[in-house]
Amino acid sequence: CGIMGYIGQQQTQEILTNGLKKLEYRGYDSVGVAIHDGESVQVTKAEGRLDNLASRLENAPLQGSIGIGHTRWATHGRPSDQNSHPHTDDNTEFAVVHNGIIENYIELKQELVAEGATFTSETDSEVIAQLLSKLYDGDMITTIQKVIEKLDGAYALGIVSEHAPGKLYAVRQASPLIIGSGDGENFISSDIPAVLEHTRDVYILEDGEMAVLTEENISLMDVTTGNPISRDLFRVDWDMEQAEKNGFDHFMLKEIFEQPKALEKTMAGRIDKETNEVDFPELAWSEEQVAKWDKVHIVACGTAYHAGLLGKSVIEELTRTPVDVEVASEFRYRNPIVTENTLVIAVSQSGETADTLAALRQSKELGAKTLSITNVVGSSISREADDVILTLAGPEIAVASTKAYTTQVLSFYLLGIYLAQKKKQITPEQNAQYMKALQHIPEQMEEILFHNDDIKNYGESIKDAKSVFFLGRGIDTAVALEGSLKLKEISYIHSEAYAAGELKHGTLALIEEGTPIISLLTQENLYDKMLGNIKEVSARGANVLGITMSGNVKVTQYVDETCFIPETYSLFTPLLSVVPLQLISYYTSLALGNDVDKPRNLAKSVTVE
Ligand code: G6P
Repeated sequence: CGIMGYIGQQQTQEILTNGLKKLEYRGYDSVGVAIHDGESVQVTKAEGRLDNLASRLENAPLQGSIGIGHTRWATHGRPSDQNSHPHTDDNTEFAVVHNGIIENYIELKQELVAEGATFTSETDSEVIAQLLSKLYDGDMITTIQKVIEKLDGAYALGIVSEHAPGKLYAVRQASPLIIGSGDGENFISSDIPAVLEHTRDVYILEDGEMAVLTEENISLMDVTTGNPISRDLFRVDWDMEQAEKNGFDHFMLKEIFEQPKALEKTMAGRIDKETNEVDFPELAWSEEQVAKWDKVHIVACGTAYHAGLLGKSVIEELTRTPVDVEVASEFRYRNPIVTENTLVIAVSQSGETADTLAALRQSKELGAKTLSITNVVGSSISREADDVILTLAGPEIAVASTKAYTTQVLSFYLLGIYLAQKKKQITPEQNAQYMKALQHIPEQMEEILFHNDDIKNYGESIKDAKSVFFLGRGIDTAVALEGSLKLKEISYIHSEAYAAGELKHGTLALIEEGTPIISLLTQENLYDKMLGNIKEVSARGANVLGITMSGNVKVTQYVDETCFIPETYSLFTPLLSVVPLQLISYYTSLALGNDVDKPRNLAKSVTVE
């Protein structure tokens, strides 16, 4: 989602729509603005593209010198006029734009409805506007403080109110927000590109901070205490293209670095704070229903298929239910064994992949219960499946998928645990340990991301290789497949992934002096077997990189280079071990001078068969 806000003497409507245009690259499915005309707040919004909003505004222009605008990428509630932002209270005294997720919105909504509020959208964000109205005490700052006290979750907010002519408010908690400082005018935005044509001087808000903007002034304060905060302006010297990538050279690198946050978002709201158990409010499956499924069938393409391979391991391990996983283009032309006792899971970042959609439709016809794991609300696959788990990775722009993949994998962990809970196959102790480990993963991922120099050097070092091989055993094999696909996609180097035990049945013939081998050794019970396979390839002259858990120094004696990742449960290592593989492919592609974000011959979303 994108936020743009303005206070000043120029045409507010135009500034907002132009700013939102700069945020289009992030993807969105509806858009809206609210403008304060000195007396009241007027709102115009539209499902679909900015052009739809622009034509509504052309027919009925909004005048005023304070405004907020928003591009929405649906999370709670499908894309529609009603669900677009800004949201207002019943009397349109307050208008709010929101990025993030209010985790406790269901409770808040129930309370507000019981007290007479009328909700017009299905969003979590509308509770904020309703709360502002309910808690308004004559002073905007204390009112906002009272509202914030009630919210759990992540939010970047822009607020205007008919009670506050001449003022624009912004609050940040775990969702980015910046304040642009102009001459006789000021701005708020979720992203620097939206304000860059007006000013290069910005304040970057930190978590727990609020900003109050007038035309001439910006005051920053701690939202809880109200204490003023002084901060230096940050001078942006990026060009527009760099700004869209948030200072990263490519969307892919930006998206790799966004993974810890994406995982946190995907987890938030799916873990019951009191019991610390997995809870999917969007599924609400009964124990009887879950007990009925004697088989799970996962269908997907590309990277999503690789997430599905891990899904199989996780669900089988935790629930002992047999799981088939198949690429959708094969599934649809077979006569798959799917009945009304099968749970079919369609995994798709875009939710539009033609083969996956066809497989989903076929499964429905066969009477199966269908679940989709997708990143795009309102996409065909999310609409047609009986139930949906949304990965909250945010828009993924680079063709090579990274953050969508890790959030799909995380969704499978959560789903596996959820099913095991329903089937009473997990003890509370085991559950608690798993949840603790999963919640620790984002931090561990940060560690890998911020010590990536060796990975960069390694990536550059294999740029002239003819072939690269990825080896693993157990769930490492699925990660190896994903690492190999990433490398192929963006470096154009031939690469293959192998279950290490299969090497001697053919692949070994391809190993020559200097062939790079990337081997995964994260599964404790398989270390020794993997070391045996590494000896086999080393003896043929291969150059081996070992990716293993920190502390496993024994590996260093067998390989040429080692990359250590932080320790976690064997089952969860894919979330960490894939990160160096993503970075290797990125740096190899970069060293080759390829178009990292848009590799030749490939498309982000394949909507043809
Ligand atoms: C295309 C993309 C891949 C993606 C696959 C499946 O081939 O290039 O990166 O994994 O489609 O896409 P989906 O949107 O269904 O996950």
